[in-house]
Amino acid sequence: MKIVVTGTGYVGLITAVCLAEKGHFVICVEADASKVEKLRNGIPTIHEPRLRRLMRKNRARLRFTTNYVSAYNEARVVFICVGTPQCSDGSANIKNVEQAAVQIAENVRQNCLVVVKSTVPVGTNEKVLELMNKYKHKNIELHIASNPEFLAQGSAVHDTLKASRIVIGTSDKKSSDILRRIYSPFKLPIIETNIRSAEMIKYACNNFLALKISYINEIANLCDIFGANIGDIAFAMGKDPRIGPSFLKAGTGYGGSCFPKDTEALYAQAAKNGYELKTVKAAIEVNKTQRMWSIKKLGEIYPRFEGLKISVLGLAFKPNTDDLREAPSLYVVDELLKRGAKVTVWDREAKKNFYSVYGDYVTYAANVYDAICAADACLILTEWDEIRKLRSTDFVELMAVPVVIDGRNCLNTAKQISGGVKYFSVGRGAPRERRLL
Ligand code: UGA
Repeated sequence: MKIVVTGTGYVGLITAVCLAEKGHFVICVEADASKVEKLRNGIPTIHEPRLRRLMRKNRARLRFTTNYVSAYNEARVVFICVGTPQCSDGSANIKNVEQAAVQIAENVRQNCLVVVKSTVPVGTNEKVLELMNKYKHKNIELHIASNPEFLAQGSAVHDTLKASRIVIGTSDKKSSDILRRIYSPFKLPIIETNIRSAEMIKYACNNFLALKISYINEIANLCDIFGANIGDIAFAMGKDPRIGPSFLKAGTGYGGSCFPKDTEALYAQAAKNGYELKTVKAAIEVNKTQRMWSIKKLGEIYPRFEGLKISVLGLAFKPNTDDLREAPSLYVVDELLKRGAKVTVWDREAKKNFYSVYGDYVTYAANVYDAICAADACLILTEWDEIRKLRSTDFVELMAVPVVIDGRNCLNTAKQISGGVKYFSVGRGAPRERRLL
């Protein structure tokens, strides 16, 4: 089938490439000409495993253009995959979605199904259809469907091709049939709902995962007070099928372009409708405190940061991405600089993006060893493999004072401590003694 995808950010580009991989012909509409140029040359504009290979493999079925008029003229199905940034009150800003919808309506020449993949507040699809009906040509029927995505950065291609489910929210059989046909080569379970439920499913999932993380982080903080070990606790909790093992990794809080934004957006939409979403509010508050966990620990060791040489390992909000959006590193480095520390940073992929925010206010190390050299303390904020491989001898031999504050629980406590490192992690102060009998 011929499909137009609007927006080539994370969701748009991955969706387009995966649709092409499954045999569809896809035209990607992107306003930024420099991005289009790169994509036409087979160069991905986001860092994502397997993406480059799949783009090249399917290049005969993928087109990239800034010319939305001609792309929409021919379109029978358009996926809207543009960003929905945050407004100052926390709510989602849907102006990009509305702009795309108007452009589609003004230019489409035959009946067309518009599929909204962007994460939008409940009720948005209906508003978008109303808006499009104002701008469309006479005698043309436009339909709308909600088709949220559940891909995570770093595993986006896998998450799309092997999704646990595809959610389709429609209000008519024809739209649902078209989407079923598009997704049939994926051979994945399809859940059909009404449009509002599909919009809500996306928020319900992300908010629940954020809650799970904030919950385990609070339990980890209690572990430090009570002398228990969060590793053992999460392991045993995860064995309960009602709880499940994933998203129980304690650490320095969640970041990224989704959980922080989607929790605030659902909270704001609920509040506007007279409902206070107390659980989500708690998750947001816990996360704000948790992302400063390493600063709190550092303060317990060094009451003043002035003149201290601090090494920050890991800047991206998670490994396998160069994305810094809402990354704990931004809040931590701000605080270190504010309090007069000299900061050296390392990240495998996010250095360039970090430089565009901090410029020469920090020093950029070429590798993890240079980063910790002569440091008074080392803060770990992303669990890259290079960091996981650091041994106690590296810290003891290279650092001025071997203080390691591991905000991602990615090193072995016993090995670090016995090797002479002053090692701190989240909720793992007590030794791990798990035995499976
Ligand atoms: C998240 C969801 O996992 C996806 O299902 C969803 O489609 C996506 O948002 C979206 O709405 O587009 P993503 O933000 O890419 O994906 O990454 P996650 O792997 O979920 O991690 C988010 C943050 O939570 C990271 O900072 C990570 O370090 C943190 N995290 C995750 C934890 O602190 N503990 C965990 O156990 C898991």
